[in-house]
Amino acid sequence: MRIVNVCGARPNFMKVAPLMEAYRAHPRIEPLLVHTGQHYDANMSKLFFDELGIPKPDVNLEVGSGSHAVQTAEIMKRFEPVVAEARPDVVLVVGDVNSTVACALVARKMGVAVAHVEAGLRSFDETMPEEINRTLTDAISNLLFVTEQSGMDNLAHEGVAAERVHFVGNVMVDTLMSHLERARGRDALQRLGLASKQYAVLTLHRPSNVDSAATLARLFDALRVIQNDLPVVYPAHPRTRTQLDAMTSAGRFGDMHNLRLVEPQGYLDFLCLLASARLVLTDSGGIQEETTCLQVPCLTLRENTERPATCSLGSNQLVGTDPERILAGYERAMSGDLPCQTPPLWDGRAAERIAAILSQWPDRAAAPREPQARSEVR
Ligand code: UD1
Repeated sequence: MRIVNVCGARPNFMKVAPLMEAYRAHPRIEPLLVHTGQHYDANMSKLFFDELGIPKPDVNLEVGSGSHAVQTAEIMKRFEPVVAEARPDVVLVVGDVNSTVACALVARKMGVAVAHVEAGLRSFDETMPEEINRTLTDAISNLLFVTEQSGMDNLAHEGVAAERVHFVGNVMVDTLMSHLERARGRDALQRLGLASKQYAVLTLHRPSNVDSAATLARLFDALRVIQNDLPVVYPAHPRTRTQLDAMTSAGRFGDMHNLRLVEPQGYLDFLCLLASARLVLTDSGGIQEETTCLQVPCLTLRENTERPATCSLGSNQLVGTDPERILAGYERAMSGDLPCQTPPLWDGRAAERIAAILSQWPDRAAAPREPQARSEVR
C-alpha cells in the first residue's frame, strides 16, 4: 500500500506530521513524502520539518512562487513524473492550497486514488482561491476525511457518496496536542518582552486583506486602538512585506508603539505565543482552529469562515474588516463572554483514524479505474 503524501505550504506541514507518524503502526503502508516547494523560505518550511520531526521529503519539486496558474501548472508538470515512477495506490493531499488541487488532479487523471484530509469545508466565497481549491479537490477525491460536522453536511448536500466520507477529527489538533508542552517551555514571551495573558497576536496573509492598501489601513485603524491596551505581536507573512514596507515608510505605524512586527515564527514559538495570548486576531483558517483548542479568544478578520464550529462551539468571532465590528468583538472577547467547547473528535487521534482507514483500503468497489490512455492527450 504505497501512499504518496503531498505537502507544499506552511499550513500543510503540521497536517502531514501526525500522519507520517501514524503510518508507522501499519506495516502494510509504505509512505512517501513529496514537498512541492510552494513555500521555500527556511522559516516558512525547513524549520517546521525540523521542529515537528517530519522525515526529509523523498522528493522536492521546488516550484517556488508564481501566479496561481503558473504555480499550479508547474506543480502538475513536476508531480506527474513522480507519480509515474512511484506508482502509488493513493495520493494523499491536505488542506486547500494550490499544491492540494494540483496534485489531486494529476493523480486522478493517472488513475490513482486521491485521499483528501480536511475535506468538506466551505466558506461559500468563491473569491478565495482556497475555496476553489478545496471544492475541486473534494470533487475528485475517492476518500474524504472530515474535521467537523459542517464538512459532513456540505459533502452530503453536494451528493458525495457517504461511503467515501469519514468523520475523523482534525490532524492539526493532533500536532497541537502533541507539541503543546514543548511549546510552553519555549522562551518566546521573554524574548519579545511579553507577559502571559497580557498581549495579542496578529496574523494576516489573505490577499483580500493584505493586497489592498485601503483594507489594510482599515484593519490598522482598529489595531491602533487595541494596541493601546495590549501589546500586539505581528509575525508578518512574506506576502505582506511590500504593503507593510510602504506603510512603514509612509509613517503609518509611527504612533503604534505597542505593535511588534516580527519575522514569521517557527511552529513551537508560534504555538507558545498563541497559548499564552489574551487575544488573537487573524485571517488564517488554521489559527481559528488552534485558538478554539486552546480556548483563547479569536477575532477572525474575514466576512466568512469555512470552519463554523470554531464560532458555534469555540472561542472564535467573525468580525470582518470594519473597525467598529472589530472593536465590538474585542470588547466581547475581553469580557470573557464566549463559548469554549472543543468540537467532537478534536482529541489528538485523527491521524490514527486516517491511517487505520487507509490501511484497510482499497475497497475495490470505490477504487478508481485505470485511465483509458496514459499517453499524451491530443
Ligand atoms: C498560501 C496558501 C494559503 C495558506 C497560506 C499560508 C494558496 C492559494 N494559498 O498562501 O491557503 O493559508 O499559504 O501561509 O495555496 N513567499 C515567500 N516565501 C515563502 C513563501 C511565499 O517569500 O516561503 C511569498 C511569495 O513571493 C509569494 C507570496 O509569498 O508571492 C505568497 O505565497 P503563495 O504560496 O502564493 O501563497 P500564500 O499567500 O503564502
